[in-house]
Amino acid sequence: MSTMSTPLTQELNDYLRSQFSAEDDFLRTLNAEATAAGIPAINIAPEQTAFLQILLRSIGARTVVEVGSLAGYSAIVMARVLPDGGRLVACEFNPMHADFIRRKVVEAGLGSVIEVLEGPAAETLSAHPLLAHGQQEIDVVFIDADKPNYSRYFEMVFPHVRTGGLIIGDNALAWGQVHMPNPDSEPNNVKALRAFNDLMVAHPGLQTTLVPLGDGMVIGLKLA
Ligand SMILES: C[S@@+](CC[C@H](N)C(=O)[O-])C[C@H]1O[C@@H](n2cnc3c(N)ncnc32)[C@H](O)[C@@H]1O
Repeated sequence: MSTMSTPLTQELNDYLRSQFSAEDDFLRTLNAEATAAGIPAINIAPEQTAFLQILLRSIGARTVVEVGSLAGYSAIVMARVLPDGGRLVACEFNPMHADFIRRKVVEAGLGSVIEVLEGPAAETLSAHPLLAHGQQEIDVVFIDADKPNYSRYFEMVFPHVRTGGLIIGDNALAWGQVHMPNPDSEPNNVKALRAFNDLMVAHPGLQTTLVPLGDGMVIGLKLA
């Protein structure tokens, strides 16, 4: 018996995507409409969808914050598995994206679950009641916005995540360049993502792992 890992080839990833995705026709149509509206196709990968839903279900998540919502794909994926009374706060900077999200959220029947905060997340979130002094109600934070600010978002939300809650950062593999001292492209973003992984894994209040699905998710479980 070997302890060697199996590198994920394109064929294996195709298998994963075809067998273990929670993407449905609604989400495929959402992506097609987003592309037609000029929104870039930079949402999470289908193979991340079922995994995120399992994470949320497994900790009984009721309250989720997403930083960076694009066209609403990942927000809808996560909101679909919240229990009655659950809610997801979706932070989106771009007004055109925010309009699109609001429309799709209603179409998805999630108008009473997803709240769209339009504007720079550092500002909209800091004014939100979930981040009020002493509040520790957040079960999951999914960070997927401007890469240089991941650490800032982390510092803002961490005190408001409950013990046993999760902080998840997308693009943890930095488009396959996270390990490169001199990345080929987007060096500032790659360095910011590496710094965020370092922050998460060294944090004494978290147990952290990196799951190589999609472009990778760094996941920290809040210990206390
Ligand atoms: C990678 S996309 C998010 C994808 C989305 N999570 C999904 O998988 O469906 C990043 C989004 O973050 C938004 N964004 C960038 N800077 C932001 C900021 N300072 N505050 C809030 N949103 C921001 C961008 O406008 C973009 O829509």
